[in-house]
Amino acid sequence: MNTILRVLLIVLLCLEAFPSRSKTNFVRVVFNKNASYEATIIWNQKSGEFIKLVMDKSYPGQNSSIHALSDENHYKGMHNHVVRLKNLKPNTRYYFYIEDSEGKNDIYYFTTVSEDSNDSISFIAGGDSRDIRNIRVLANKMVSKLKAHAVLFNGDFTGIDTERQWKEWFTDWESSISVDGRITPLVVTRGNHELGNRVMLRLFDVPHTKVFYSTTFGGDLLNLISLNSEIWKFGSQRLFLRKTLKDHKDYHWQIPQYHRPVRAHVRSKKEMNTQYKNFVPEFEKLNNVRLCLENDSHTCKITWPIISDHSDQADEGFVRNDSIGIVYAGEGCWGAPLRAADDQKSWTRDAGAVNQFNLIFVSKEKIELRTVLYENVDDIEENTEDSRFIIPSNLKLWGPKNGTLIEIYPRR
Ligand SMILES: [Fe+2]
Repeated sequence: MNTILRVLLIVLLCLEAFPSRSKTNFVRVVFNKNASYEATIIWNQKSGEFIKLVMDKSYPGQNSSIHALSDENHYKGMHNHVVRLKNLKPNTRYYFYIEDSEGKNDIYYFTTVSEDSNDSISFIAGGDSRDIRNIRVLANKMVSKLKAHAVLFNGDFTGIDTERQWKEWFTDWESSISVDGRITPLVVTRGNHELGNRVMLRLFDVPHTKVFYSTTFGGDLLNLISLNSEIWKFGSQRLFLRKTLKDHKDYHWQIPQYHRPVRAHVRSKKEMNTQYKNFVPEFEKLNNVRLCLENDSHTCKITWPIISDHSDQADEGFVRNDSIGIVYAGEGCWGAPLRAADDQKSWTRDAGAVNQFNLIFVSKEKIELRTVLYENVDDIEENTEDSRFIIPSNLKLWGPKNGTLIEIYPRR
């Protein structure tokens, strides 16, 4: 073999081993229906033409499944490509790559959720990532290390919803991808800094035009209800809420998430009486709602279990009731400027202005909620999917007054 041929061969082998530089970016996975069987993969096609998405339960090879595009749109300065996956197997790791006219892109994987309600589920829950990019990147890196089944991201992604800010957000979200290519799927809601519903549909493939929908996890373990604080709470949204609660009344748990807190712990924030009137009575009708996730205020709070009450004993319309009450946790510190928790109530368990998100373990027996101070992420040893329920030794948890672990049990 002459020298030129030999060099050519080496170049070809290198091209095969190291595919061309990625022509796609901002690859994310969302759960928006049943996290055991369905998922949506979305990305930005920077250049080239999409050919296929190749997926397999191990490293993609000869017998991989081939997936066509389900949808695409040009929005917020990106060419968003959407592949909706159905009939997936529960509790299964799926590797995939995108092939386009310019080559094969990087290989990623995500894992579907068990359909067995005897298995536990791990969530990271938070929101309000606008403005302070270096802080939100720390939170995103913590996502890459904790290996939760999903991130529940509860609105206010960016400052004012511009193209530039969304590109920055997705650039930073890439820090949530583990070194080995693992992507933690998202379940999202709309915040007031998302200026319309459309952005949630186009960038996250939310399955309802009004951005209220439910996602199930672990067979009949959990119905997660994503609500929209930015539109009317009565009418179709209240009817949806009533119906999904009723349809899942025999599930072990239902957890609502919505951006604006019913009773904010920051004084300058208005009371959300429309949610108090339309959401809370529905939550309280059933036995299996015992935790709500709220954001928006840029402070941290956990309440005692509370129920609505109109007597003189009530503080802002609620009283503590440990046996049947609902715990409200939040309120959004994923990189947004912190605000003092200057509006605490008699039923506030703990509150303070810290950068945090919640780490939530859901099992049939109980919900465990911890508040993670994620800023020391570089000191944290990375969990595996198998060790995700073990708290890393130097993970900083918040809540010294009342303990760092909140345990929520079914109504007795
Ligand atoms: Fe907000």
